[in-house]
Amino acid sequence: MEKIIVKGGCKLSGEVNISSAKNSVLPIIAASILSGDKCYIRNAPMLEDVLVICDVLRSLNAEVNINRTNNIITIDTSKACTGEPNPELVRKMRASFLIMGPMIARFGKFRISLPGGCNIGTRPIDLHLKGLTALGVKIKLGHGYVEANTNKLIGNKIYLDFPSVGATENIMMAAALAEGETTIENAAAEPEIEDLAHFLNSMGAKIKGAGTDTIKISGVKELKGVTHTPIYDRIEAGTFMVAAAITKSKIKINGIMEEHMKPVIAKLTECGVAMEIQGESIIVDGDRDLRPVDIKTMPYPGFPTDMQAQMMALLSTVKGTSIITETIFENRYMHVGELKRMGAEIKIEGRSAVIEGVDRLCGAEVKATDLRAGAALILAALSAEGVTAIGDIYHIDRGYVEIEKKIQMLGADIRRLKE
Ligand code: EPU
Repeated sequence: MEKIIVKGGCKLSGEVNISSAKNSVLPIIAASILSGDKCYIRNAPMLEDVLVICDVLRSLNAEVNINRTNNIITIDTSKACTGEPNPELVRKMRASFLIMGPMIARFGKFRISLPGGCNIGTRPIDLHLKGLTALGVKIKLGHGYVEANTNKLIGNKIYLDFPSVGATENIMMAAALAEGETTIENAAAEPEIEDLAHFLNSMGAKIKGAGTDTIKISGVKELKGVTHTPIYDRIEAGTFMVAAAITKSKIKINGIMEEHMKPVIAKLTECGVAMEIQGESIIVDGDRDLRPVDIKTMPYPGFPTDMQAQMMALLSTVKGTSIITETIFENRYMHVGELKRMGAEIKIEGRSAVIEGVDRLCGAEVKATDLRAGAALILAALSAEGVTAIGDIYHIDRGYVEIEKKIQMLGADIRRLKE
């Protein structure tokens, strides 16, 4: 089992380059099933989750080529079949369920293992299924599987009870090949949805309004293969912004879209961090007296749940009382126990965490309990006194490209230990 070992207390300096967004690339790879032509993803982040979804496609007979030299993934689904994807792979990652929309739209039938829950919550798929049913898909659930069948997908008006990212993506992908017009109301508005719509539109789809809460899709008969470069990963960028703040350092982060970073920039500004945008870069100066802040996670453009753990690490080191309220996932506080091992003072009260900033965290043996929790522990460790050993780092590898190398380049004492 590998570990990340961090000796805290170093100042960071220099520049870091942000990779493409994991949460854009996963649905885009799934969407490539919609065309029998080849699709090319440029600047693809070579992450565990990306490799898993490629394997899921391969288990359906797709040819997927991963070129690590130039970071291009080539997907050829011309020989893909309606067979069942490898259930072990599907259960590894919830995002595997994103192939449901494209598979049913292209082949009219599909059977897939239920993705199951995960560490951060039960994460049901009812909204995905409700949306697909409205498009004319017959769904049968049983024995841990979802069986979907349709003679024809027909556009419809769908109101989502909650703006689910995955459900919006699955419905949008299926509706792209449906007959007639589909409207998704109360749709998720995350930048990754807009990126998926750009990908689909360049394939020939007719989608308007992605990135707002109302998306209109006029179905087309077929889609063609394209080349696409996904957007930058706003969560990776946010994680490095917090790295500067927690180590009281000044660094330059290359690869951001200001618009996508607004909720994180607003909170860090409120906290007292100085930032300057220079085109697609941001200079973050955390060498200030920081103030406690309250945060409530919300669907985009609210504060992202995927930055909650990292902000908690920061606020654990900021004098005063901060309150974080998690409204998206019911169990996304697994990192609290680990941060407490490092000396953080945090109390959970229902959906809120009350954080009393301490003078200094201290190094400890901790475990990454999920992807963002793991990132939060690295951040905490960078500012802590002494050495921190972080275990279960496979969670971190699911969503960050060589995180320890990028942080090392900024001057921190961090390394990966292979045991
Ligand atoms: N939900 C339902 N029913 C559904 C779908 C969702 O009740 O049918 C609930 C979930 O249980 C959850 C909430 O709605 O409580 C939000 O879930 P959503 O569907 O929006 O999330 P997701 O599509 O499963 C994506 C990201 C997550 C990110 C969330 C929220 C991908 C591959 N994953 O998940 O990313 O936290 O949106 O922004 O895009 C991460 O990168 O660390 C991560 C977990």
